[in-house]
Amino acid sequence: MLSVENLAISFGGLAALRGFSVEVAEREIVALIGPNGAGKSTVFNIVTGLERPASGRVTFLGKDLLAMVPHAIARCGIARTFQNTEVFRQLTVLDNVLIGCHAHLSAGALRGALGLPAVGREEAAARETAHALLARLGLDDHAGVEARALPLGLQKRVELARALAAEPRLLLLDEPAGGLNPTETRALMGLIVRLRDERGLAILLVEHDMEFVMSISDRVAVLNDGRKIADGKPGAIAADPGVIEAYLGREDD
Ligand SMILES: Nc1ncnc2c1ncn2[C@@H]1O[C@H](COP(=O)(O)OP(=O)(O)OP(=O)(O)O)[C@@H](O)[C@H]1O
Ligand SMILES: [Mg+2]
Repeated sequence: MLSVENLAISFGGLAALRGFSVEVAEREIVALIGPNGAGKSTVFNIVTGLERPASGRVTFLGKDLLAMVPHAIARCGIARTFQNTEVFRQLTVLDNVLIGCHAHLSAGALRGALGLPAVGREEAAARETAHALLARLGLDDHAGVEARALPLGLQKRVELARALAAEPRLLLLDEPAGGLNPTETRALMGLIVRLRDERGLAILLVEHDMEFVMSISDRVAVLNDGRKIADGKPGAIAADPGVIEAYLGREDD
């Protein structure tokens, strides 16, 4: 479904990626792990069109993503969340999710859905979709609350709901469990697997929580210093001496 080949990119002389490749198949959950600064978020930024690599190829369902601008990439069926949770803080939870529906709404219908009573059929459908998503993610009690009033765990859910509202086929999650407590983290693990099962989503996620990664991923790719040093099933990755040396065995983990 997604094919990332041989990416290279530098920032002011620092090589952030040096020939990185990864693939994600339909309905697959792939984790991208590695030390801080390894280049994980940069891969997401390239796939979503926010950064342009010096070389390499990125295709999604056969389409060349490097030739597209971010909103066109989103329309192809790719949605993401950010490492530093990015919600519209002064908008309500419902409006945050309605903005995620924009891929399927005309500008007029989006304006209507956000501001005024829903009159058009398109707006009404978007509101229905948004409410269903809020219910699915356990956010229905917070629909009318400003996003900034919510604790981080719920803001992360709002961001996830907004990404899902675009009805993606591939979801990129950058540290979805970052800052969550163990109970929230476990709930999120179950939710991600169910979303894959229910919606047939493919998921590429970056995460430092190894229990999270090892229990929900079909495959794990390990990035170190801009290069992929391993790619395989969670059990094989956890036992890989090179991975332990570069990442898993570090004292601060
Ligand atoms: N826009 C940018 N400008 C300059 N340097 C950047 C930029 N984006 C990333 N970098 C640098 O590229 C390297 C890789 O960054 P990246 O954010 O991809 O790492 P990461 O694997 O996501 O790390 P972390 O686990 O800390 O989130 C880092 O050295 C980072 O400082
Ligand atoms: Mg990162």
